[in-house]
Parts: sequence; structure tokens; C-alpha cells
Amino acid sequence: MSELQPTLVVAAVVFFYLTVYYFVFRGTKCTSSVKLKGKTAIVTGSNTGIGKATALDLAKREARVILACRNKKKAEAAAFDIRRESGNNQVVFMHLDLASLKSVRSFAETFLQTEPRLDILINNAGVFGPGHTDDGFDMAFGVNHLGHFLLTNLLLERLKQCSPSRIVNVASFFQRFGNINFSLLASKKDRVLDQSPWHNLQAYCNSKLCNVLFTRELANRLDGTNVTCYSLHPGVVSTELGRSMSLWVQLLMKPFAKAFFKDSEGGSQTTLYCALQEGIESFSGRYFSDCALQEVGDKGRDDALAKKLWEVSERLSSLYNSVNSNPEAPKFI
Ligand SMILES: NC(=O)c1ccc[n+]([C@@H]2O[C@H](COP(=O)([O-])OP(=O)(O)OC[C@H]3O[C@@H](n4cnc5c(N)ncnc54)[C@H](OP(=O)(O)O)[C@@H]3O)[C@@H](O)[C@H]2O)c1
Ligand SMILES: *[C@@H]1O[C@H](CO)[C@@H](O)[C@H](O)[C@H]1NC(C)=O
Ligand SMILES: *[C@@H]1O[C@H](CO)[C@@H](O)[C@H](O)[C@H]1NC(C)=O
Repeated sequence: MSELQPTLVVAAVVFFYLTVYYFVFRGTKCTSSVKLKGKTAIVTGSNTGIGKATALDLAKREARVILACRNKKKAEAAAFDIRRESGNNQVVFMHLDLASLKSVRSFAETFLQTEPRLDILINNAGVFGPGHTDDGFDMAFGVNHLGHFLLTNLLLERLKQCSPSRIVNVASFFQRFGNINFSLLASKKDRVLDQSPWHNLQAYCNSKLCNVLFTRELANRLDGTNVTCYSLHPGVVSTELGRSMSLWVQLLMKPFAKAFFKDSEGGSQTTLYCALQEGIESFSGRYFSDCALQEVGDKGRDDALAKKLWEVSERLSSLYNSVNSNPEAPKFI
């Protein structure tokens, strides 16, 4: 009997862990059974992590899925995996580097010329880390917010033509700690002067607050169009997002992340919910977590702040400079 006890204890611990893991860390699942035959979806940053899991699910639902990624080799490998696993050969790579406004414009142009439909736009790509974009913006602000802001606006007419359609912006819980410093933005760059990990984290939080505010103002502007938009927190997910952190931090984090964080499939559930769930249209502009509506902090609900961010982003991304070359772009008044 006494020999059995350690075994029992181990078994109990494993059982307890699996139960907690399943119910707490894995999170809720998107239960929608919607099929997407004949529909087209774009997922940015879909060569790995949450984006890849999202694209795979959409492919299994028979959508045509555009992997909008910056690295051709990684994206084509992902497209291959997704086609094989879903049995859907309508999964294609199209080049998009969100750290370059020029690349965003050229992606939109190619897309609009070659693809007749757009039903779901998932702005998923994200960076956490140092550096600045081709246009001189802080990397997190430029990629996570401004690149997606321009992309969405350039594709808006097509989304309207294909309505009911949806835009999903992958934000983060960290939006709560975000701030927007307009005087810093007015100097054109939200360049973080100091590139310490602490400043990178602050810049990341700021960019995620931008995602939430962008979604809010976008919903106002889309009122009456049957195009709806949502932002969300995917959960704490084991992905490559921490790749810019020092090697020893990554080594320490890895086993912990594998044991306690959601996997990418779990991390894609709220994105899928926002993209697919029937009946959430009246919550356009709102923020979701664990496949449910969530309140955001005061800043995330500040309509004046959202409006101001929109206007500043229009200027910073030179949105209307591209109107003439893009007949589908919104008219500038
Ligand atoms: N993991 C989490 O716990 C967590 C929590 C909250 C929110 N999020 C958000 O979830 C989203 C997905 O992140 P993840 O965790 O799946 O991270 P990930 O594994 O690092 O994937 C990020 C994706 O974004 C792409 N990307 C980065 N910079 C890009 C650029 N300039 N142009 C185009 N694509 C670019 C990456 O492409 P490359 O492979 O070529 O770099 C990659 O495909 C992000 O918006 C992130 O902020 C994640
Ligand atoms: C905003 O940025 C300016 C630099 O342009 C700086 O002087 C100021 O302290 C910043 N404000 C906040 C609240 O961080
Ligand atoms: C939006 O959808 C409703 C219900 O399907 C429809 O009656 C309405 O005409 C649509 N509006 C636009 C602008 O497409």
C-alpha cells in the first residue's frame, strides 16, 4: 500500500493539472459551425502562431484564405501545411510587410486587382520588440496599428461590396496599460527613444490600445453598412511573440509557456468567434476575450480619443494620398 501512495499522488497531481489546464488555460472554444464556401478571408501574420491556427480553421470551413505575410519562404511553408491539413487548396500567400506603408499599398492594389471578394479581414500580425519601420515609426506602433489602419481603409470598399462582412483586430489585454502621446505622434514618430525592454513593453501596450480605439471609431464610421468590426484578447498563448527577448529569458519561459499557456489553436478561438459567430453584429466596435464580450478600461472607451487617433493615423499613413491611384478608396472631403 505504501508503495502505491506516491503513484496515486502523482496521478492525482496530473489529473488536477490536466483539469485545470483544460478548463482554465485552454479557454473557451468558438462553437460556430458556419461554413465559408465561396467566401474570401485575409489573415495577416498567418505563417505562424495564432494567425496560422486561424487561417487553418477558416480553410477547414472551405474559405479562400489569403496568407498576408512578409516572409515568402515561411508563408509558403505555412500555406503548404494548411492546404494539406485542411484539404483545401484555396490557400495562397500574398506578400505584405506591415512595417512598410508602400508594401501595404502594393498588397492592397494586387489584392483588389486579383481577388473579386473580401468577406473577412483579420488583422492579426503583431510585433513586440525594438526597432522602427521603413517609414520611421516605432515598430509596434507602425506594424500593429498604422500598417493595419492603412490596410483596412484601402480594403474597405471591397468589404462593403461583399457585406455582411467583418473586420477583426487582434489586440491584447495589455491595451489596459496603453497610452497615446499625441505630442510624440505629432513629431511624426512614436519612436521610443530608449529601446530598453521596458520601453518596448510600453510601446506594445500603446499599440494595442490603438487597436481597440481604431476598432471603436471604425465601427462608428461603418454604421449602416453591414460591415462590422471587433477587437479582442486571444488569451496568453505560447507563440513566437517573445522572440525579441533575450535568449535566457526565452529559455526560462519556454517550458512554463508550454505547460501553462494556450496553444495556438486555443489562442485562435476568440478571433474565430469574432469572425464567425452569428448574432454579435450589434456589438460592432467592442472588445472580446474568451469568446465573450469584455469591458475595456476608460481609455479604450474614450470616443474623443478614438476620433483623434483616427485623424492622426490618416495623416501619418498618408491615407488620402493614395486615393487617386486607388479608385476604390474612400473619397476625401
Ligand atoms: N501570444 C500571446 O500571448 C498574445 C497575447 C495577446 C495578444 N497577442 C497578439 O496576437 C497576435 C498574433 O501574435 P502571436 O502570438 O501569434 O505572435 P507570433 O507567433 O510572433 O506571430 C506574429 C505574426 O506577425 C507577423 N509579423 C510581424 N511583423 C510583421 C510585419 N512587419 N509584416 C507582416 N507580418 C508581420 C509575423 O511574421 P514573421 O514570422 O515573418 O515575423 C508572424 O506571422 C499579435 O497581434 C499579438 O499582439 C498575442
Ligand atoms: C509625450 O512626449 C513628449 C515628447 O514629444 C514628452 O516630452 C512628454 O513627456 C510625453 N508625455 C507623456 C505623458 O509621456
Ligand atoms: C444590411 O442588411 C440588411 C438585412 O440583411 C438589409 O436589409 C440592408 O439592406 C443591408 N444594408 C446595406 C447597406 O447593405
